[in-house]
Amino acid sequence: MPKPIKEELMEVTMDALRMNEGLGENSYANNSLLQKKVILMTRPITEAAITELYNTISPKTLCIADLGCSSGPNTFMAIFDLIKNVDKRRKSLGLESPEYQIFLNDLPSNDFNTIFKSVPEFLERLRNEMEAGFGLCFVTGVPGSFYQRLFPTKSLHFIHSSYSLHWLSRIPEMEEANKGNIHMAISSPPSVKKAYMNQFKQDFFAFLSCRGEEMVAGGRMVLTMCGRNSEEPCRRDGTYRWEVLSMVLRDMVAEGLIEEEKLDSFNLRDYRPSVGELKHLVEMEGSFRIDRLEVYEIYWNGYDEGEISKHEKSQDVFGYYIVKCMRAVVEPLLVHHFGEEIIEEVFLRYKQIINDPMSREEKTLFVNVTVSLTKMI
Ligand SMILES: C[S@@+](CC[C@H](N)C(=O)[O-])C[C@H]1O[C@@H](n2cnc3c(N)ncnc32)[C@H](O)[C@@H]1O
Repeated sequence: MPKPIKEELMEVTMDALRMNEGLGENSYANNSLLQKKVILMTRPITEAAITELYNTISPKTLCIADLGCSSGPNTFMAIFDLIKNVDKRRKSLGLESPEYQIFLNDLPSNDFNTIFKSVPEFLERLRNEMEAGFGLCFVTGVPGSFYQRLFPTKSLHFIHSSYSLHWLSRIPEMEEANKGNIHMAISSPPSVKKAYMNQFKQDFFAFLSCRGEEMVAGGRMVLTMCGRNSEEPCRRDGTYRWEVLSMVLRDMVAEGLIEEEKLDSFNLRDYRPSVGELKHLVEMEGSFRIDRLEVYEIYWNGYDEGEISKHEKSQDVFGYYIVKCMRAVVEPLLVHHFGEEIIEEVFLRYKQIINDPMSREEKTLFVNVTVSLTKMI
């Protein structure tokens, strides 16, 4: 029986998951166009949910949380839209503006400093763009894992989370190594696939139970995550980017640039649930009612088909955004596990593979799942 490899992996993942910090060239703030587009695509669902919430509950202080907020322009984008919708609605109903309490949550290693520095600008924008009589807005950072309790009982009215819940709380406990792979791949052993699925079930159930405690009855929650189109666990939907990274790391092992054991003990805590899995878990946990559950696709560099053909004129541009986005997300994990020295080489090779015409024939769509929920009594 192969040795479980949990201990080492848990230590690695708990320390290293965060997006590239700051506002520099490789920062998440400057390389999250794909995630921005996803927030824009889900806008109609989010707007409907906040408007329905405000139609049924009009609290004096509206408490809104964004979970897995990261840092950069996306952090305030969804929050701004939510406030704008409420403000328009209260104006049309002739109601006094609520005050807003905004909670921005991410793991403690997130770059909260960059967020806090942009709070004054965000508040200024609210004052300039909201209707007369707009209420006060308070912004608070909440460091911690959303798989645990983060807020007092029945204290939240609305929760938004985008592109964060496909990150598991930890790397699943595996009975055998996921040799040559860094995620739940088609070629992963069945026990590895089962471990990933079980970890997601456990995590998402915990997430719902915690939020069930923290939200008021009638509160609303809109969650978007990378997902998959079919119920089959190992479809390639959206995982090509990890396959390319596996390929790069395997080549570097073959050339003696990375130790094989290092690669074998590196796994990502990434899981893409299906609509069926989400539905089942929400129903089983029981705190929330599903109002909407939608699946849609986006090109992995954040551009749609029309825009891509424009950009494809230059091979470099096609790869440029994908590599930048990938790097902003996984660089800290790679540095933590393999060391700083391999990073430039990894992303150089990554770019070469995706700019290869053969590789560009691959289905490079990300599948997203959005679920809109209401907290039951
Ligand atoms: C890809 S970013 C998405 C950021 C932002 N919501 C957006 O749409 O651009 C995912 C974020 O989720 C955070 N995250 C992952 N697991 C988390 C957890 N258990 N608790 C809180 N945040 C978590 C990561 O640290 C990261 O900042």
